Amino acid sequence: RDTKEQVGNYIAEYIAKRINSFTPTPAHPNIVLGLPTGSSPLPVYRRLVELHKEGKVSFKDVITFNMDEYVGIPRDHSESYHTFMFTNFFSLIDIDPKNTHILNGNAEDLYKECEDYEAAIRGVGGIDLFLGGIGADGHIAFNEPGSSLTSRTRIKTLAYETILDNCRFFNNDLSLVPRMALTVGVQTVMDAKEVVLVVTGQNKSLALSQMIEGGVNHMVTASALQTHPWALVVCDEDATLEL
Ligand code: GLP
Repeated sequence: RDTKEQVGNYIAEYIAKRINSFTPTPAHPNIVLGLPTGSSPLPVYRRLVELHKEGKVSFKDVITFNMDEYVGIPRDHSESYHTFMFTNFFSLIDIDPKNTHILNGNAEDLYKECEDYEAAIRGVGGIDLFLGGIGADGHIAFNEPGSSLTSRTRIKTLAYETILDNCRFFNNDLSLVPRMALTVGVQTVMDAKEVVLVVTGQNKSLALSQMIEGGVNHMVTASALQTHPWALVVCDEDATLEL
């Protein structure tokens, strides 16, 4: 696609189609989506909200699991992923907040929080479609370079590059950026029936080429998707610079 907006529109319409054509079964009564934060998926959320307003899609029966959350900032902090999701998406559609799941980076027992998250995903029959973005270093969710490609939901120390990247959201003050996050693992994403990645902007062009033209390796964790049976990468012209 030419622009970020066109990428967003394409993916939103794709997801709406999946929601509308979902066939419930007793073992898997609801469609389950994995969702990302970041600037790349914003046009997707914008278009999904429009489609909802136009009466073309309902989220009443949709269950969601977010990819990740910072550790140690309050849930209502302006940069928490909870705030991001409710501001940009959940509060603008007809989803039941009880059907939305976001890791709690303030849980007393973070290890248990991660285990419970994996159990909750299993409990609803797994994720049908995982939407994701990528970091400039090729990470997916917060699976920083060096993460095991068979990893599951866990605590992760953020890479220096990610902390620098995210500094813009924290008054450009490095000391305010969280150093740790909870994140689904690469394997958690790989277990989804389908994965759709949104990759836009020139700053992602190197990551995109390493991810799809390089070998599968744990320094570019999104490269694991090369082995996924049903992964779709949707990118804009700028992101294809290095292909
Ligand atoms: C963070 C998130 C990732 C996201 C990445 C890129 O690292 N944990 O899930 O893909 O940022 O964000 P952006 O889309 O703003 O470039």
